Amino acid sequence: MTKKMKVTPYDVRGKVNYDKLINEFGVKKLSEGDLKRIERLAGELHPYLRRGIFFAHRDLKRVLDEYEKGNKFFLYTGIGPSGPIHLGHIGTWRLVKWLQDRFDTDLWFQFTDDEKFLYGNKGFKEIRRWTKENMIDIIALGFNPKKTHFLVDTLHAGIMYPEAIKVAKKITFSTIKASFGFNDSNNIGSIFYTAMQTVPIFLPNILRNENRPCLIPLGVDQDPHFRISRDVVEKLGHKKPAILHAKFMPALRGPEGKMSSSLTNSAILMTDSPKEVERKIKKYAFSGGQKTIAEHRQKGGNPDIDVSFQWLRYFEEDDERLNQIREDYKSGRLLTSELKEILIKKINAFLKVHQERRKKAKDKINDFLFKTRSLYKIDV
Ligand code: TRP
Repeated sequence: MTKKMKVTPYDVRGKVNYDKLINEFGVKKLSEGDLKRIERLAGELHPYLRRGIFFAHRDLKRVLDEYEKGNKFFLYTGIGPSGPIHLGHIGTWRLVKWLQDRFDTDLWFQFTDDEKFLYGNKGFKEIRRWTKENMIDIIALGFNPKKTHFLVDTLHAGIMYPEAIKVAKKITFSTIKASFGFNDSNNIGSIFYTAMQTVPIFLPNILRNENRPCLIPLGVDQDPHFRISRDVVEKLGHKKPAILHAKFMPALRGPEGKMSSSLTNSAILMTDSPKEVERKIKKYAFSGGQKTIAEHRQKGGNPDIDVSFQWLRYFEEDDERLNQIREDYKSGRLLTSELKEILIKKINAFLKVHQERRKKAKDKINDFLFKTRSLYKIDV
């Protein structure tokens, strides 16, 4: 049964209709013109932009206008470290890396250990462990160590909290209730949390005495936080951030909801072995093929709902090859089992490199952690 669509930072359900979401959230669809402009400035267009995996934005034009005038933006994104990184997380970050390389920008990466402590039932120790594990995966994706700064909410509280209270003072409980569906029984930390996620929009400018625009690539479920932030930061005298919205990579088991590491059979983890990848895809990947081979040869499969094909859109960079696979599947020349084999190979090749880089990344965490003293001194 199809569940009703719901998209908030704390709940994604049902089959997501992205056009409807554009209206509901009040964001803009990325236009051909936007893509052409990015291509002109970047020298190429990332497949995730060509393929509509990033599909919407807020205020992108303003950031690009300033870029053309010589005021470079910085990138900001984040992760709530409550479990292992899986393939569903990294789509957004692969585009972030491309943006960092192409535009030669700083990236501020927030680890919201406070958020995951306040919202789930995991203990703080376990969350600290995931914070470190997640850092290893993020470093292994290849971000520039000179230009990437990890902010950990509880670790960098000394520089974040003085800014977070200024944000918090401008947000009412009723706004939070309306945005996230909270009620009087939610804990008071979770009510405050949006203030912490707002701070990295302007903290880099405060730390460096600059006035750069901020661009936030994110999974579209995070937009509600920033709808609140955008109004507030302006009231505090900072620029509104621009946002680039990504669709969710579908869960292995089917097109509804989003991938989650707590449902291990709906996700492939960055640390999964080749055998595990093969097992999960063969057993669980939702198929758009027909019930029997004979029927499949005759009617063909449906790549639009087939999770293996949808995942290939993230991992097969060659447009021509991807199109060929699509046509072969639609015509019935390619069977679901063969399509799955193609995907298994692609993912295992990707993970092999990633897992090698993971080993080296373990020693690099310290290079990525933002180092500072509190800006506030007490003069006595
Ligand atoms: N709340 C996000 C999560 O649960 C983490 C996050 C913090 C984030 N800042 C962000 C995500 C900025 C995208 C952009 O994963």
